[in-house]
Amino acid sequence: MRAPGASLAVVILFCAAALPAAAQFRNGRPARPDVTLPLGPVRSVILKSCTSCHGIDDLGYHALDRAGWSDVIERMKTTPSGVVTGAAISDPDKEILLDWLVEQFGPDTTPFPREYMPRELSEADFLNDEQAESRLAGTCEACHGLDRVDDMRANEEEWRAILLDMMGRGARLAISDVEPLVEWLARTRGTNPSN
Ligand code: HEC
Ligand code: HEC
Repeated sequence: MRAPGASLAVVILFCAAALPAAAQFRNGRPARPDVTLPLGPVRSVILKSCTSCHGIDDLGYHALDRAGWSDVIERMKTTPSGVVTGAAISDPDKEILLDWLVEQFGPDTTPFPREYMPRELSEADFLNDEQAESRLAGTCEACHGLDRVDDMRANEEEWRAILLDMMGRGARLAISDVEPLVEWLARTRGTNPSN
């Protein structure tokens, strides 16, 4: 692999980069969803109709079908708790928003867990390289290359925070796959400079 000196420098750099996510976990709080404001027509709908009251990160907590998202929007229109006037959104704008919501946070996506408790692994959970790599390729490459993963060195807690962070950004990883991947990542891309 790399020369030992170079790899140590890289390890230190990437540990520093991983700290914010991991720090959240050390305080006993899981990472939060972090939803990026989309581009295109839906962007202005969100800015016009939603963000006057709150950000869009919490959308990541939900995985709803069109009817479910429609109910949420209707609830926002008719004074959600704590506000006097509800959200203003036209019917055409609502359809634009629904298209995006169902695409990003539809029933086949994994909602960001509000409370995440790492589960114990059993013998059958341990992944070999091939299994782990195919699972990562199928999930992570929707947004970026696996070089991000290969370049990162992090301990178990930090990898857990990274995976939950990615899920909050829309990575479609099944909850049951999180701990097996955390174990594999910490084993093969851990903070021990020799790996
Ligand atoms: C007038 C203020 C206001 C506007 C505009 C507004 N919301 Fe809300 N929203 C709230 C309040 C207050 C809550 C929390 C109380 C509740 O859920 O009723 C909330 C809660 C939510 C939640 C639940 C959060 C969670 O995870 O518990 C979602 C999802 C949501 N809003 C989506 C939207 C969307 C999408 C829009 C744009 C169409 C929107 N909101 C516009 C006031 C607003
Ligand atoms: C929905 C899009 C999306 C998916 C899917 C996704 N990521 Fe990411 N990932 C991002 C974004 C955006 C960043 C850049 C974050 C930043 O720079 O703040 C990132 C950055 C990273 C980083 C670097 C983090 C750092 O602190 O430098 C790692 C490691 C990573 N992703 C791992 C993964 C893994 C593992 C998966 C698959 C399980 C995955 N990502 C899937 C969006 C995604």
